[in-house]
Amino acid sequence: MNDSNLPKIFVTRQMAEKELDRLRSVAQVEVWPDSLPPSREILLQKVAGCDAMLTLLSDRIDEQVLDAAGVSLKVVSNYAVGYNNIDVEAAKQRGIRVGNTPDVLTDATADLAVTLMFAATRRVNEAADQVKNGQWTTWEPNGLLGKELAGRTLGVIGMGRIGKAFAQRMVGGWNMRLVYTSRTEQADVNGSLGGQRVELDELLAQSDFISVHVALCDATREMLNKETFAKMKDGVVLVNTARGETIDQDALVDALDSEKVFAAGLDVTTPEPLDHNHPLVQHPRTIILPHIGSATDCSRLAMAEIAVDNILAGLEGKPLRCEVNA
Ligand code: DGY
Repeated sequence: MNDSNLPKIFVTRQMAEKELDRLRSVAQVEVWPDSLPPSREILLQKVAGCDAMLTLLSDRIDEQVLDAAGVSLKVVSNYAVGYNNIDVEAAKQRGIRVGNTPDVLTDATADLAVTLMFAATRRVNEAADQVKNGQWTTWEPNGLLGKELAGRTLGVIGMGRIGKAFAQRMVGGWNMRLVYTSRTEQADVNGSLGGQRVELDELLAQSDFISVHVALCDATREMLNKETFAKMKDGVVLVNTARGETIDQDALVDALDSEKVFAAGLDVTTPEPLDHNHPLVQHPRTIILPHIGSATDCSRLAMAEIAVDNILAGLEGKPLRCEVNA
């Protein structure tokens, strides 16, 4: 077949070549070569006339982009489990399928939430900085005291796949008491982990350690804010590996300053990247990571595989392997 008859795909970032080759075998593929996302202007140009797009969280796919692509666009495949960067409703109205990459990053992200929980709780950043900056003078009985997790109450906000994997690790490993929020009762969590489903206010009032695992939507945007921080126990530890926008960051800075929040571990912020001079980054009792929840060899490869499968199915007009607007 003449190349110009092949479907056109725009891929907004480099990823596993082996997976991109599967696209190249059936389509004309343009892969954005930079490590930074294409600018809005370039994105609008590149998608024109495309049959499929493979996008990242940092690409805002709204009506303007969908219209710039035009009627040929059949599928937008997001290289992420979250898809808050995509106007799914607008895609649906245009008959465009939207795919995501669930399951394969659950363990990696849950592991990172555990990492952040311990790093924040035991003040690992602050302690390591003392050593690095030549401030380690002696062993002190009251120096760099963190908190003990074992036996305390863990609040998991959002008991989806990742929330559950995180809770399994923490409850199983450190024998924590578990409370959680969820749209529905989770019989397995109640049974095997002894979890109790509660309203958010109750979770905030009971938890010594809180981890956020909700998808971003209108209901969860800045759900942790001045009012909800006030409902937490004093000295709580907070972890977020979901989306930065679930937390009002100014309110978090105040809560850290007043020690309402003892420490915070964040893999996600608003915006991303967060300026390195931002008070959250500079705060001694935070650890901020550059959104690396799914950054393991296995997860990222498996995400590429699903993202490509989604495109191949979408080009053939078939249901996607993982479809978000099905
Ligand atoms: C996702 O997939 O939504 C994560 O935030 C990045 O892997």
